[in-house]
Amino acid sequence: MKKLLMMLMVLTFTFALAACGSSQSSSSGEGDGAGETEKKEKLRVVTDAAYAPFEYMDKGEIVGFDVDFVEAVAKEAGYEVEIVNVGWDPIFVEIKDEIADFAVSAITINDDRKQTYDFTSPYFLSTNKILVPEGSDIESAEDLKDKVVAVQAGTTGQEAVDELLGKNSSNIKKFENNNLAIMELTSGGADAVVADNTVVEEYVKNNPDQKLVVIEDADSFAAEYYGLMFPKGSELKADFDEAINTVLDNGKYAEIYTEWFGSEPDVENLKA
Ligand code: ARG
Repeated sequence: MKKLLMMLMVLTFTFALAACGSSQSSSSGEGDGAGETEKKEKLRVVTDAAYAPFEYMDKGEIVGFDVDFVEAVAKEAGYEVEIVNVGWDPIFVEIKDEIADFAVSAITINDDRKQTYDFTSPYFLSTNKILVPEGSDIESAEDLKDKVVAVQAGTTGQEAVDELLGKNSSNIKKFENNNLAIMELTSGGADAVVADNTVVEEYVKNNPDQKLVVIEDADSFAAEYYGLMFPKGSELKADFDEAINTVLDNGKYAEIYTEWFGSEPDVENLKA
């Protein structure tokens, strides 16, 4: 009985401590004390961390090219960031409702999205490609027309497949994230996945035992550029545009790029 009481007391104490700690840290952004230099709040940056090598979970941490890129750009612009894995659809809700400050998630800049969101200048060139099992008879986008295709819902990959198969085709299987779409393929529920080239190529490289190949079709899939996505009218965007320009110029971008992709980026193409 005594032991139990002791345990209860220790527990209560721990909780009290924890509560104290958290209330302290949450109020520290307000800059209350006189003469105290105002502490900058961290920007809330949202992502869908199921898109290696751009953003993915590794031992409980969000890592990837986008993570390193945003951290370098934010540092250059003088901001601290906290990257939060919220998932793909919630990204768009959070930016629209101005809950998050901006999003990084290999997000393609396109006219449709530009009506609702503001984008920085481009930081990465991409295109959709087709992921199929070895020996598949799919050799081009045209060949997808009578096949079952898995995509991440709400991506340019889905858009491209909508166009090929017809928007309401029951042969399009839509998933909340791209890893689920690939799982559908590897478990035999789909004939192909359409997603960003770097992502499907990375998957093939990391999973040689699954015997998948990537099909390119530059005639059917347009070149796309990724940008950081801000709420419309965000005042932060100009600072980030400037910082992106700087890291493209000063070699920091190339350093991060080479770390992740093992080759030199075509910086001039991004700036054009
Ligand atoms: N680039 C494509 C798009 O913007 C796919 C991006 C998916 N990103 C992700 N983190 N799941 O639609």
